[in-house]
Amino acid sequence: MTAKVKIKALVAGNWKMNGLKASSKEVKTLAKLIAKASKKAKCDVLVCPPATLIPALKDAAKGSKIAIGGQDCHANVSGAHTGDISAEMLKDAGATYVIVGHSERRADHGETSEAVCAKALAAHRAGLIAIVCVGETETQRDAGETLSVIAAQLAASLPKGITAKNTIVAYEPVWAIGTGRTPTADDVAKVHAAIRAALKKRFKAEGEAMRLLYGGSVKASNAVELMGVANVNGALVGGASLKAADFDGIIAAYR
Ligand code: 13P
Repeated sequence: MTAKVKIKALVAGNWKMNGLKASSKEVKTLAKLIAKASKKAKCDVLVCPPATLIPALKDAAKGSKIAIGGQDCHANVSGAHTGDISAEMLKDAGATYVIVGHSERRADHGETSEAVCAKALAAHRAGLIAIVCVGETETQRDAGETLSVIAAQLAASLPKGITAKNTIVAYEPVWAIGTGRTPTADDVAKVHAAIRAALKKRFKAEGEAMRLLYGGSVKASNAVELMGVANVNGALVGGASLKAADFDGIIAAYR
């Protein structure tokens, strides 16, 4: 029987394609409020704005514990990849984390788990922490395929030799994203237990210590319940991360 590893939680906001520089006053206010909230928090706090806002957010978060991250990266360092951004560029702009394999990227851009794995490796090459997302669609869930889908995504999306320091896994059921619907605490517990078991099997002690985030319609009203589930070490928050009061309410689950 191994001793239980204590894992510090992370509350991460994914702003997706929202936010303009023109609204930088709001962005600054939001960053300030988040910074204030995170001061009292017992968890780490991360904001992943669109890449265009990374420098502004980095600036606004100066002196606070808030980390800044990107939402995706290309697998290569540089080159002829019009419209793409490399992990090194995100790092250069002030990011310390990057989300890879979000279901919106997998669906909108046809990203395979193999491509996601290459992006995670790129993140590590640049010295960024990779947040690797997995999650089943509603059809897969209804067909009883949740655990097999997650197992296959994990196996192909996670590079060899990853550590608890350089990688975080986020479970985001596709049907729960932006819908206001969430799995029951029991369902989340089952999936997170399966993810933990798979990580431990493949990465041993590193897998045991790796952070597992839940994402999909996390709000202040359900944060305490969802964050209290075994093997849930934080949240990846979309819509509710765009309003300081809502995001603060989620961070408060860790006070
Ligand atoms: P919502 O919190 O808006 O459901 O989005 C979750 C998500 O996709 C975070 O990456």
